[in-house]
Amino acid sequence: MLDQLADLLTDIVEGQREFQARWLPYHQDASLTVDSAALREGAAALQERLQDNYPFFHPMYAGQMLKPPHQAAVLGYLAAMLINPNNHALDGGPATGQIEKELTAELARMYGYAEHLGHLTSSGTIANLEALWVARREHPERAVAFSEQAHYTHSRMCEVLGLRAVEVPSDSQGRMDTEALHQLCLSEDIGTVVATLGTTALGALDPLPRILELGARHGFRVHVDAAYGGFFRLVADDSTDGVDAAAFAAMAQADSIVVDPHKHGLQPYGCGCVLFRDPAVGRHYVHDSPYTYFTSDELHLGEISLECSRAGASAAALWLTLRMLPLHTDTGLGAVLRRCRRAALDWSERIRTSDRVALVLEPSLDIVVFFPDNGPRSASAISARSDALFEETMSDEENPLYLSKLRVKTALLTARYPDIEADAEWTTVLRSVLMKPEHADWVERIHATVEERLGA
Ligand SMILES: Cc1ncc(COP(=O)(O)O)c(C=O)c1O
Repeated sequence: MLDQLADLLTDIVEGQREFQARWLPYHQDASLTVDSAALREGAAALQERLQDNYPFFHPMYAGQMLKPPHQAAVLGYLAAMLINPNNHALDGGPATGQIEKELTAELARMYGYAEHLGHLTSSGTIANLEALWVARREHPERAVAFSEQAHYTHSRMCEVLGLRAVEVPSDSQGRMDTEALHQLCLSEDIGTVVATLGTTALGALDPLPRILELGARHGFRVHVDAAYGGFFRLVADDSTDGVDAAAFAAMAQADSIVVDPHKHGLQPYGCGCVLFRDPAVGRHYVHDSPYTYFTSDELHLGEISLECSRAGASAAALWLTLRMLPLHTDTGLGAVLRRCRRAALDWSERIRTSDRVALVLEPSLDIVVFFPDNGPRSASAISARSDALFEETMSDEENPLYLSKLRVKTALLTARYPDIEADAEWTTVLRSVLMKPEHADWVERIHATVEERLGA
């Protein structure tokens, strides 16, 4: 990856030179000029500081939702960043504004939206905020419900928006309990339900088809938070390396969708996306900006978004990435996702047949959650062993493995393993987000490392 990047970086600089050559020659102001040697030295000092990082690029990093962007994204970002367009208005970024509109249309098509309104955002948090803000405009007095497994952002954003938030319990698979949701709707005025496809902790899929049925019956909006899982739409075909078809197919009926290209879309941070099924929600955005929207009568993205300035470079990066790895089911990005899914299925199978580790639940996507099962089966003992394994694998200098920890309700464990003693309400377990396709070739080693550690 780095070799390809190094080769092409000069092309990017040449492209910028060509762009600049279209104007009268000028010199950068002396106040901005820095000494080359000093810049090199500063850059070296920065590289030194950046060494204090975990190896997110490496398959033995199997912890949090983290990985570097694809080289196409880096090139696309850099090429546009040298110009630094601002996608707030077509005044600030005519090319990247147009690109962003094409990209959002492509994403909307992937979800089966016949029409849409949408745009990129700077994160999943902001994209969800926007979807809930529109929900509040539609149903100002009504509450928002989401599962106890939903991302914490939903309760926080309800607070920001002054909306009442109600938590719905989850079932033994970490999915929203739709019977509990139904009962809730009989006693509370729920205006919007957030369904998560790919919960942050467990990668669980809320039962969207059933939630939509309840929505039709009780008259609530359905917002799908697919910040993490959204791109799995490409491989939602119930095949051996695919994921659940029904949940993802139902996205076409949801009122709004959030997906984060900076998670499974191979992008650098700063790239979320919000989509609405009904373009008429654009009326909620109407505002007056006396300083922008002058260069074109076409829609400016700032007219339909809450954020003002946003990097046009994000759109450029996503555009180049999807040109290289299109939204196809068996090739392009689909092939990448299938490898991640295979990694999760392969590792789960190894865990299932191990006597040293046990699965918390079957993975729905590519997140594997497990606990060391080589000692007393009580919540506190499992937590202690998880803490120890986490520390030991990470600090092993010869063969480090990076996992992440997760606190789950002990009831989630006892649902599958009734003999676990619930001597604490919460248990710490281990969680691996296998979001790099390389993981498919490395789970054997990852699993062996865990087993060796626990056998030692
Ligand atoms: C399901 C879900 N929603 C929302 C978010 C928040 O997204 P961001 O970190 O891009 O703000 C995350 C982040 O992990 C997530 O997994």
